[in-house]
Amino acid sequence: MDHPAPPPGESSDRRTNLWLAGLTVAFLGMSALFLGNSRSQAAPRQAIAPVDAKFLETTPWRQTYTDLVKAKEDLSDYDCYSCHEKNKPPPIRFDANHKIIIPKEHKNIVMGHGSHDRNDLCYNCHNEQNLVTFQVRDGRELKFDNIPPLCGSCHGPTYRDWEAGAHGRTGGFWDRSKGEAQRLSCANCHDPHAPHIPTRPPAPGPHPLHAVAAAPAHPHPAP
Ligand code: HEC
Ligand code: HEC
Ligand code: HEC
Ligand code: HEC
Repeated sequence: MDHPAPPPGESSDRRTNLWLAGLTVAFLGMSALFLGNSRSQAAPRQAIAPVDAKFLETTPWRQTYTDLVKAKEDLSDYDCYSCHEKNKPPPIRFDANHKIIIPKEHKNIVMGHGSHDRNDLCYNCHNEQNLVTFQVRDGRELKFDNIPPLCGSCHGPTYRDWEAGAHGRTGGFWDRSKGEAQRLSCANCHDPHAPHIPTRPPAPGPHPLHAVAAAPAHPHPAP
């Protein structure tokens, strides 16, 4: 029986197969290298530490008169006429450096309002004619439970920011069907007598998930 001549494509098929086998081996080798390499460079997963609970604390820093009334706490400090006489405004005394002298009955008060204590005069806020109210620049008399307009009478821009929600914290609920939004009074954060709030360490930034090369501690010497 005659063997038919091999079809013309057979030897080139074998070559193609050899090529493909070679390529497969090459790719397998490369992927092994790649995997080995990428594993050796994979950054170790960092454990994500929980944020310090002090940054999640929402209790206001200070209690105002309104809060003390609600909590039924001691209000004797606000009972001015248990010590003072009506129609006899207590005189304000100064020391040799023109610093206001705080009598020992008011030793809980530390005065320091503004740089150079510019707003330390009691009657800039308290009403000497009626100690249980505040007096405002435009002549209005405000009760102890209405502090923001008093501050606003001198700090107009900050007061407008506060009214609009840009200054001071809004708490409570975004979704009003779940509860009310809460605006804090100026005196929940600022002590009216010494309103500067010392700087505090900021809360940590968001966790980056991937390792970030740590910046050198002090790349540039401080000026
Ligand atoms: C426990 C008693 C007592 C209470 C309560 C009290 N005071 Fe006085 N206060 C004093 C005494 C005592 C002095 C010093 C009196 C003096 O110099 O004539 C004084 C002084 C003052 C002065 C002058 C301060 C200075 O630095 O010279 C002001 C202003 C004043 N009181 C406002 C108030 C106001 C406002 C209230 C209520 C929110 C109040 N006091 C509640 C006892 C009290
Ligand atoms: C910038 C305005 C301002 C000035 C200035 C000021 N006070 Fe006050 N004072 C307030 C406000 C507001 C409150 C109510 C605070 C609150 O509700 O937390 C208050 C509360 C008080 C109280 C009752 C609560 C407490 O802490 O004892 C007394 C007493 C008092 N002031 C006395 C004085 C005296 C005395 C001076 C001057 C040495 C003075 N204040 C200066 C705004 C002021
Ligand atoms: C009679 C006007 C007057 C009233 C009322 C007043 N302030 Fe001031 N406040 C000043 C002045 C003046 C300064 C000093 C500005 C400066 O030094 O540049 C000041 C400074 C401040 C500062 C900056 C503090 C600092 O040491 O740098 C804060 C915060 C502040 N006030 C908050 C308040 C709050 C809160 C109230 C209401 C309880 C209030 N102020 C009421 C006049 C006022
Ligand atoms: C939730 C807390 C919070 C409330 C509420 C708040 N403040 Fe402040 N305020 C701050 C902090 C924090 C600073 C920045 C620290 C500083 O300068 O003392 C500041 C800064 C200020 C300053 C000085 C810097 C500036 O903006 O010029 C003034 C004045 C001031 N507040 C007034 C007010 C008045 C007036 C109100 C009420 C109408 C108010 N704050 C309510 C937290 C508060």
